Amino acid sequence: MTESGDRTVSSKPLDPFTLMLDFRSGALEPHTSRTERHVSDMQGAYADATAQEHLVKGGDPLVYEVLQYDIPEEVGQLICCTTVLHPGTVGDEYFMTKGHYHSVRDTGEVYLGLRGHGYLLLMTEEGGKAATPMGPGTVAYVPPNWAHRTVNTSEEPFVFFAVYPGQAGHDYGTIEKTGFPQRVLRTPEGAELR
Ligand SMILES: [Fe+2]
Repeated sequence: MTESGDRTVSSKPLDPFTLMLDFRSGALEPHTSRTERHVSDMQGAYADATAQEHLVKGGDPLVYEVLQYDIPEEVGQLICCTTVLHPGTVGDEYFMTKGHYHSVRDTGEVYLGLRGHGYLLLMTEEGGKAATPMGPGTVAYVPPNWAHRTVNTSEEPFVFFAVYPGQAGHDYGTIEKTGFPQRVLRTPEGAELR
């Protein structure tokens, strides 16, 4: 490791490589890490705490999984991962990811929708908010400083691929304290953003 200005950079470059991504299942091969988030991992995220507790006691379903090929978390690197966000609700609220800011705030991210439909919810610490629908083929740009969370509004897995800078890191703690200003609820008329 060497220091370049205030940025840590790798002294040993990686060799070129390829990965195989299955657009339907979201399988990324090879991957070096697989993160699972169950309903019990989402404490405080859903509005209906009673429904959440009921689901946890009833088997604690898997909400989403992230497959990643781990690359050094350094400036200049790009980290690739797929997320498979399963269909379901907690009360009336669709399954969603925890959501995060990047620890290094001035780093963006690109999402590519592969399967299913949902929303990308975004916000800033200055009060900015946005919600963009996503489906197969949607390329969503997450600018630096915007927290991001995805929501599955379909009856099948919502699968998307993401690329973000190696040094970005994840800040989940701020979201656990503040939540997001918008929620996506299942209604008889379909998904409703509130
Ligand atoms: Fe991110």
